[in-house]
Amino acid sequence: MATYDLVVIGTGPGGYVCAVRAAQLGMKVAVVEKNATLGGTCLNVGCMPSKALLHASEMFEEAAHSFAKMGVSVSAPKLDLPAMMNFKQQGIDGNVKGVEFLMKKNKIDVLYGAGKILGAGKVEVSGNGKSQTVETKNIVIATGSDIARLKGIEIDEKRIVSSTGALSLGRVPEKLLIIGAGVIGLELGSVWKRLGAEVMVVEFLDRILPGIDGEVAKQFQRILEKQGFVFKLGAKVTAVDSSGKTLKATVEPAAGGVAQTIETDVVLVCIGRVPYTEGLGCKEAGIALDNRGRVQIDAHFSTSVKGIYAIGDVVAGPMLAHKAEDEGVACAEIIAGQAGHVNYDVIPGVVYTTPEVSSVGKTEEELKQAGVAYTSGKFPFTANGRSKVNQTTDGFVKILADAKTDRVLGVHIVGREAGEMIHEAAVLMEFGGSAEDLARTCHAHPTRSEAIKEAALAVGKRAIHM
Ligand code: FAD
Ligand code: NAI
Repeated sequence: MATYDLVVIGTGPGGYVCAVRAAQLGMKVAVVEKNATLGGTCLNVGCMPSKALLHASEMFEEAAHSFAKMGVSVSAPKLDLPAMMNFKQQGIDGNVKGVEFLMKKNKIDVLYGAGKILGAGKVEVSGNGKSQTVETKNIVIATGSDIARLKGIEIDEKRIVSSTGALSLGRVPEKLLIIGAGVIGLELGSVWKRLGAEVMVVEFLDRILPGIDGEVAKQFQRILEKQGFVFKLGAKVTAVDSSGKTLKATVEPAAGGVAQTIETDVVLVCIGRVPYTEGLGCKEAGIALDNRGRVQIDAHFSTSVKGIYAIGDVVAGPMLAHKAEDEGVACAEIIAGQAGHVNYDVIPGVVYTTPEVSSVGKTEEELKQAGVAYTSGKFPFTANGRSKVNQTTDGFVKILADAKTDRVLGVHIVGREAGEMIHEAAVLMEFGGSAEDLARTCHAHPTRSEAIKEAALAVGKRAIHM
């Protein structure tokens, strides 16, 4: 029987990164993966394919609507959807191969099959009609998450799709109805909108992107509406009739009331994701789950069973690839006897639309609710030179700082490249920096990042270009 220091179940960004870090620390490591390819949700049906389609569709949109105003004259672009899907697949394959390479480089055994925990120190791996049991000193559960389903609305991944089906539609739907104005709805809605679909988003709450700073979400909604998105807020889809040529969705006010029927070609259900522990044997092994089905862990990623840890989407916290990765590193270091740590106060979030939305730290609503006295500095891209010359002036940077100490508590950006810009704020916050520190840091001109410096100056009411 093979024996290891660590067996990681799942090879998403949490699992494979944990395995690499553990191998770097001298452990003998194996990963278990039930899918045919490594990389988990993120590489196969999540972050990567969605970003490939967002990039390609943005290029299509730019060629159609932005080139001419810059004096670049091209004939109207034509969509070759199979070629775009091939571009997406090449991106997935390249990244999956990268993870395979990392496993080899770090001498990590890859065991394909479904992993089941038989108890502390024992994992059964079954697949292709074969089964083996491996022994290990430690186990890390990194089995990720699955789509959340809506009762009574069956996903067929053709006309009623989850994000997985929406990443592989065979043709551009004339009409796309999206249930849920969260990250997936707005990113994948953007893809199909740019390629020609009419997009309507039905959202249960009275706002889009819950969890994002309210002012940012409002501005972002207006920008998306200008792009042609139609939002039905405070509403829910209660049924979808798929018996006819077009789908008929029943939409009701969230609080109940008069229903409306909306015809559409495709329905995308994206109302969140749920932890995935199916077939893992948690109950039999005595591994406690919380009331939302997540594996319960302590501050050191340890489950209720000694020697068994859990990280990533399957535990509490934001369902983000980089959060899973950082937990993977910290967990491996803790297993090795080091002091691994994740700072949950500084986890950036990005919505990869055009413009992008990014944030790190507290929102204004969170500070108000916690009774923290804060000051705020805001700077619009309309006053940023680089944005002006490029004619990409939508959005702003907002910085929230402690009223007494000036320590930066949150940074929120809506605007092009916001996802790349947020990291200087994250580094500053990791070091406990102040708005004054940001304001006194020389920023290259002309860059969009100067808007961050100006927003920091605005905290002290002394922005230069406004
Ligand atoms: P996963 O990536 O879900 O990996 C879990 C792995 O475990 C899977 O490969 C699964 O097959 C395997 N597994 C499960 N059970 C078993 C078992 N019993 N035995 C063996 N193997 C098993 N996050 C971002 O940060 N940025 C983004 O841009 C982004 N875009 C996204 C877009 C979409 C459409 C979706 C759906 C998600 C996106 N996410 C994004 C979220 C991101 O994909 C997840 O947060 C991330 O993948 C979680 O990593 P993980 O390692 O915890 O789990
Ligand atoms: P989400 O949690 O971001 O948004 C779901 C939305 O659906 C919410 O606005 C919610 O209020 C709404 N909703 C819930 N039930 C509803 C109902 N019955 N009717 C109408 N609206 C309803 O979840 P989403 O978009 O499915 O994404 C899942 C996870 O994947 C997120 O947690 C996110 O972290 C991750 N992800 C991250 C990305 C990124 O970092 N760029 C991209 C895509 C996904």
